[in-house]
Amino acid sequence: MVSISNKLPASLVRIIDGIEKDDLIDNDKLVELIKQNELNEEDFLPLSEFGHSADESYGRTLVYEGINFSIYLMSWAQGDFTAIHSHGQCDWGAVYFLGDVDHRLYKASENRIELVQKAVVPKGTTVPVKGNLVHAMGNLHENPSMSLHIYGWEKSESNANDNAFVYELEKKQIRVTNGSAFINISDEFCRETEKGIVTNTDTVKDYFEIIHPYYKKNKINLMDNYIAEVLKQPELYEVENQ
Ligand SMILES: [Fe+2]
Repeated sequence: MVSISNKLPASLVRIIDGIEKDDLIDNDKLVELIKQNELNEEDFLPLSEFGHSADESYGRTLVYEGINFSIYLMSWAQGDFTAIHSHGQCDWGAVYFLGDVDHRLYKASENRIELVQKAVVPKGTTVPVKGNLVHAMGNLHENPSMSLHIYGWEKSESNANDNAFVYELEKKQIRVTNGSAFINISDEFCRETEKGIVTNTDTVKDYFEIIHPYYKKNKINLMDNYIAEVLKQPELYEVENQ
């Protein structure tokens, strides 16, 4: 195992020890382990990346890499958000919310995707994760916040981040990635692209509101203008209502 940082909070070190001592770790055990070891927002500030580059749509810090799991700290400044994404080969895992985080849950089947829930997940929540979770998360509010993500795998030849999907509604394509979920994700993180997405108007409107600031901030004018037009006239985006 490789410790990426020697400044890990003591409570996280105890969680890591608990994972590494348990050959049969699963989501229930992981959630319990997180609950037993109180994680504090302040302890993670030295590891945060609120000043990430503008073309990456949120801060993503690898804080620990074990034999069969990885731990990331995500930093959410105002307007930061992921693209809609799944979690690849993740067999077990959890997200701990160090602050309030905006969340979108989707139902996805092949190239069909639909928004099913909008919520603010409150600070202190632990949510289990598996590969088929399709969601987006970030920060639509003023106060910066962070979340801690643990992704584990059972098969030695893979890792939890392989073969995650990013659903780029604005480009009507699905990308196969290494686990990064940046909006307008660059080719370096992707191995395949599949054209064609089927969705509905509510999903497009909500997601375009979320990603519009990213394209504006990065001065990607064609997409900025296209998103603005669709938000005014959603019928410009071809959708299949269900
Ligand atoms: Fe995720």
